[in-house]
Amino acid sequence: MGNSFSSKIGVLLAAAGSAVGLGSIWKFPYTVGENGGGAFIILYIVCSLIFGLPLVMNEFLIGKLSGKSAYGAYRTLSGTGRWQWLSWMNLLSVLAILSFYFVVTGWCFYYMAEAATNSFAGMDAKALEAHFTAFEGKALLMIVYAVIGIVLTASVLWFDVNKGIERLSKILMPLLFLILIFMAIHMIFLDGGTTGLKYLFEPDFSKITSKVILQAMGLSFFTLSVGVGALITYGGYMPQDQNVRGTSLQMIVLVLIVSLLAGMIVFPAVFAYGFSPQEGPELTFVTLPAVFQHMFAPTVTSTAFFALMCVAAITSTISMMEVMVAFFCEATAETKRPLNRHHSVIVVSLILILANILSVLSMTGHANWLSVMGMNLFDSANACVNNILMPIGALGAALFTGWFVPKTRYQGSRVASFIYLVILRWIVPIGIAIIFLDSLNII
Ligand code: PHE
Repeated sequence: MGNSFSSKIGVLLAAAGSAVGLGSIWKFPYTVGENGGGAFIILYIVCSLIFGLPLVMNEFLIGKLSGKSAYGAYRTLSGTGRWQWLSWMNLLSVLAILSFYFVVTGWCFYYMAEAATNSFAGMDAKALEAHFTAFEGKALLMIVYAVIGIVLTASVLWFDVNKGIERLSKILMPLLFLILIFMAIHMIFLDGGTTGLKYLFEPDFSKITSKVILQAMGLSFFTLSVGVGALITYGGYMPQDQNVRGTSLQMIVLVLIVSLLAGMIVFPAVFAYGFSPQEGPELTFVTLPAVFQHMFAPTVTSTAFFALMCVAAITSTISMMEVMVAFFCEATAETKRPLNRHHSVIVVSLILILANILSVLSMTGHANWLSVMGMNLFDSANACVNNILMPIGALGAALFTGWFVPKTRYQGSRVASFIYLVILRWIVPIGIAIIFLDSLNII
């Protein structure tokens, strides 16, 4: 069969690959650290179970029942074009995410190459900070590395799903777990790592505000790849006998394990060597390389860590870029100039190269006119996706299934249970609406 997954484990690994990305390995640890440790983790888990699980199942189901990606799925299941705007929003969301995600993926590739060639040897935190700041100013270098990520992703999507995405996921996901386990074992032998674990897990409920709850929900959606049509697209390639509920649950558990492991790798090391945890990019690209210099086998350890980031990032970019590729194929199918998969991959790659060039230029200050709401493109895309596009994409998909899709289309599907419908009809929309309005200070 051409464009579908050929095995159930292939679907699970590809979906887990989409979910486990820079979100789990990079964003999760520092967001948890900043927002009350264990208390935030509890919030994150609650959001993932109450909102995340039904939404993941919902997207898989929309894809599986229609056999299409977002563009065709909303049309096929509703029988009208009125829900089409949701697929356009999905397209916009992945474009926005990929315009900064490939930039960071490029950083990971660059740092992996540097780590492997032992370039960090002898550098302390100050030197590494200067190194990172200098790197952040080099627009051309960053563009080159972002384009490497785009070309690698495109070369996987060039093949049909079972030969490209599925085959690669079956290699990369076990590799990701191997590296994680290697890093985790490494950290167990550190003296003084418990302070790091305390920082990560000790609950501080005083830090929980509505903004923090919104952040937990945003992080949960982002790490579960929900609300942008990626899981609809993978659902469209699922074998008919795949169990949607089981796959969704397994995927969420895998994401949780990886996110917690990532935190348990990062913080003990940071504290064991007397560093203080920093927020955002600095934690990964300055503090950690500095910490690794003090550890056993620094070259191997830092290369392994950045390889982990690269593997996690690429399996996620693959799923997001596939949303765009499938969109263009389906949207042009009935026009005079239908795009086949190869054409679509080329068009999407060119769009993404342009978007990433703009994003880098606005970040390095070479194009200050490219700012939105006082932020450069990189930051505004990030904020807009987390706070607006993903919640609305997820809300729209929930309302679509809960209220609109004729029930007959869901008959025979084991997930279409009463509880599931109640959650999609009421709990998810009300929850998202309250958190959303509250964060905008409207209520
Ligand atoms: N889940 C990915 C991560 O955590 C990002 C992603 C979002 C991937 C949406 C696909 C769709 O990094």
